[in-house]
This record gives sequence, structure tokens and C-alpha cells, in this order.
Amino acid sequence: MNALIERVAPYATHMIRTDHAHVLAAFHQYQTDSAPRVKKGLVNTVCLALEVHAQLEEEIFYPAMRAVSDSDFLRKAVPEHNEMRRLITQLRNMEPTDAGYDGTFMELMRDVMHHVADEETTVLPEAERLMRDRLGELGAKMTRRRLELMAPRSGAMATNMARSLPATSIALAAGLVAGGVLLGNRLLSSRPHRFGSGTRTGASGRWL
Ligand SMILES: [Fe+2]
Ligand SMILES: [Fe+2]
Repeated sequence: MNALIERVAPYATHMIRTDHAHVLAAFHQYQTDSAPRVKKGLVNTVCLALEVHAQLEEEIFYPAMRAVSDSDFLRKAVPEHNEMRRLITQLRNMEPTDAGYDGTFMELMRDVMHHVADEETTVLPEAERLMRDRLGELGAKMTRRRLELMAPRSGAMATNMARSLPATSIALAAGLVAGGVLLGNRLLSSRPHRFGSGTRTGASGRWL
């Protein structure tokens, strides 16, 4: 299993960018006039995805970066994740019909978009410059950890996706449940990835 994960896992920076893309796509699907059930499903799905993503970065990616860089972003990244967690808790304690629900989700969107922009323009290019030879190993570690983190949450994820719009479900399923279902399929088929000039060109961009 571990050897297979090492073969099929995306590079850490590819995984991070693709997670960002899926969450940003989900943000764009939030509409203030959607049915409360749909809003709740979408928000819960996004919150779960953000929590897992932040944990993977904090446990695996940021510590590896700190060993090679002292960038300002790395100092503020965890406090920014914590602010995101505060807003997530607030949203979980609210109903979509509450007056502040839309505003709180918009605040989360603004914070995450700002954080993602910083991450993608500073730390990810730096990672690719300073620790290129470790990105495959870190991607495999993050994939293994994602599987562990998603396993107990699969029931909640299914409920949230059933509540939200089909398009949302499709977009997010590709990125968020991928660590479990789609990776499982890849492992079962165990087809090797193609590699080209040091860059992993397999399914990383498609399913994580
Ligand atoms: Fe990130
Ligand atoms: Fe982050």
C-alpha cells in the first residue's frame, strides 16, 4: 500500500494547488438566495475540506518548509488557519437562515482567498525551488494522512454533498473525497504514472 501511494501520490505543491482550486470553485457556487439546505451542504463541505487541507499543511508541508526557509508567510500561516477555524466554528453554530450566515461565509471566503493567494505566490514557488527533490515524498505523506483524516469523516461528507447542489457535489467530490475513493481506485488499478523531466505528469492535477 505504501509503495503504491508513493507511486500514485501527487507532488505536495500540486496537491495544495489543486485543493485550493476545488475550494475556490465551491466558493463561486455559493449563492445567497439558494435554499438553506443547499447552503448548509455547501458550507459544511467547504469547511471540512479546509480543515483537512490546513491540517495536512501544518503537520507535513509547513514543517518541511520551515527547515529550508524563514519566509514571513510561514510565520503568519498558522494564525491565519486559526482565524479560518474560528469562522468555521461560528458557521457550524449558526443556521443558514440566521442574519449573519452569508456575511460570515463571505468573511471566510475573503480570508481564504487572501491566504491562498499568498501561499501560491510565495511559499509554493519557494518549495519548488528549495526542496524540489522532497515534493514527491511529502506528497505521499500528505496523501496517506489525508486518507486517515477523511476516513472518519466520510459519512458527514456524503450527507453534506447530498444536501448541496449536484454540480457542487461533483466538483468537490473530485477534490475532497479523492483522498479516499479515487485514490483507492488508483491503487486498485495500480497503473504506473508517467514521469517527464522531473515533473510528475500523472493524475495529480485531475483527482487531488
Ligand atoms: Fe493551502
Ligand atoms: Fe495554508
